[in-house]
Amino acid sequence: MRVAVVLGVVALAAACGEDPPKFTAPVTLGGTEVAAEVLNAGHRSYEMRCASCHGPDGSGQGPAATGLAKRPRDFRQADYAYKSTGEGELPTDEDIDATIRNGKPKNGMPAFGGLADADRHAIIQYLKTFSPRWTAAPAEAS
Ligand code: HEC
Repeated sequence: MRVAVVLGVVALAAACGEDPPKFTAPVTLGGTEVAAEVLNAGHRSYEMRCASCHGPDGSGQGPAATGLAKRPRDFRQADYAYKSTGEGELPTDEDIDATIRNGKPKNGMPAFGGLADADRHAIIQYLKTFSPRWTAAPAEAS
């Protein structure tokens, strides 16, 4: 019964021209378990708003990234420049959120202050899935 429901949802998503959900189970990110629904929401939003520059794979090589004042960094390395934490440490969620809300307009990173808190939260969690520094490591920050 449950399988039938899941298949139905997948079929519906396919009918709407959407890919099936990328995550089917929670993922532990920096020691915190994040639900699949949150990651799927983050994935959808990222594909829509961020992938053109940051690339579907988080490499920073999206088609719109050429010609920007600054090249986006590689999310797969979790090499974030804008953070309150020390050299070599991962940024906090708040650090990433501040970049998303305010952007770096001079460098080509738009401000996404109009996005709902839950949407930004989901995108931030999804960004972490690009890097083994979050997916493999136990809690590193805090
Ligand atoms: C028009 C292209 C473009 C789009 C669209 C875009 N970005 Fe960016 N982003 C950039 C550029 C360019 C940088 C590098 C800016 C810098 O280094 O000052 C950047 C930097 C960032 C950083 C900072 C990483 C660090 O070094 O600390 C984060 C986080 C980020 N983007 C997230 C996002 C998210 C999330 C979205 C979608 C909601 C998004 N970006 C959409 C171009 C873009």
